[in-house]
Amino acid sequence: MKALITGITGFVGSHMAEYLLQRGVDVYGTIRNRSRMEHIADIADDIQLAECELRDPYSVQHLVEEIKPDLIFHLAAQSFVPTSWNSPIDTIHNNVAGQVNIMEAMRRFDNGCKLQIACSSEQYGYVEPHETPIKETNPLRPLSPYAVSKVAQEYLGYQYFRSYGLHIVPTRTFNHTGPRRGEHFVTSNFAKQIAEIEKGRKPPVLFVGNLDAKRDFTDVRDVVRAYWLALEKGEAGETYNIASGTCITIRDMLQMLISLSTVDIEVQLDPNRLRPSDVEILYGDYGKFHGQTGWQPEIPFAQTMEDLLDYWRRHD
Ligand code: GDD
Repeated sequence: MKALITGITGFVGSHMAEYLLQRGVDVYGTIRNRSRMEHIADIADDIQLAECELRDPYSVQHLVEEIKPDLIFHLAAQSFVPTSWNSPIDTIHNNVAGQVNIMEAMRRFDNGCKLQIACSSEQYGYVEPHETPIKETNPLRPLSPYAVSKVAQEYLGYQYFRSYGLHIVPTRTFNHTGPRRGEHFVTSNFAKQIAEIEKGRKPPVLFVGNLDAKRDFTDVRDVVRAYWLALEKGEAGETYNIASGTCITIRDMLQMLISLSTVDIEVQLDPNRLRPSDVEILYGDYGKFHGQTGWQPEIPFAQTMEDLLDYWRRHD
């Protein structure tokens, strides 16, 4: 069994690679010339990397023809919501073109390959309180260019499934975190700030944005197991929520992290961290995916937060 991971050097990609290696799968991954390799340094001898620019159709066709993967986990994306307001065209182009190139290559070298697409709970966007926990049937009311790019990715996946019969399973994943989470995302950003305060590298002031937002966090290690199951047991053309089925305010998440530390910390609003429109609540129902695959999250959120803070304490 050969699996190709786009974005293998990233947060989810590196965890996905580790999970697949444990299952005895041959792991291939795409890198670009500026990719940072630190997340996959420990498994570098066990995986095969190919330089590929996903926006370039020739690069992708060559890759798929060479590797002939059985499974593709498409995780590469411009995935930070605030960046998508600063660079909306680049976000849409990057996220949409990369995926179209993958699907075109699958179509051309038709070998029964299955494709998982990392879509997002951000697609739900504006959610009425009575609509939670959110099911897959909820309307999509995206509130950022990033969210729109993920709606496009999912619908293109559906269209290629219907038009050409490709085996494509999009997953609408709610927030996920854990060791190696990029430092701009909220859990990691706060954990990193706390670790730096503990080390005396930063004054004891922790900067925050909107603490009223509510999010549904799953551990990344549970998420990559879900992605495997999505291709093993998920139905082509169906979309599935991957969520914890609980939600927490960003304020309470911050308090959890602070309670894991012994230093005194002052919390201060940084207006630059506020967004033109923030998604107020993401709280998912993963019943459809559970019914199809038996998946449920296993790692408690408190454990994830401890592991994340320890990651930043170890990090230089
Ligand atoms: N990043 C950040 N930094 N967010 C903050 C901060 C801060 O200092 N303070 C408060 N927040 C709030 C944001 O306004 C948002 O409501 C929430 O914390 C989470 O922000 P992020 O961690 O940046 O994630 P996101 O919810 O915008 O998007 C993430 O989840 C999606 C799935 O729902 C990303 O991982 C996306 O790629 C993913 O699709």
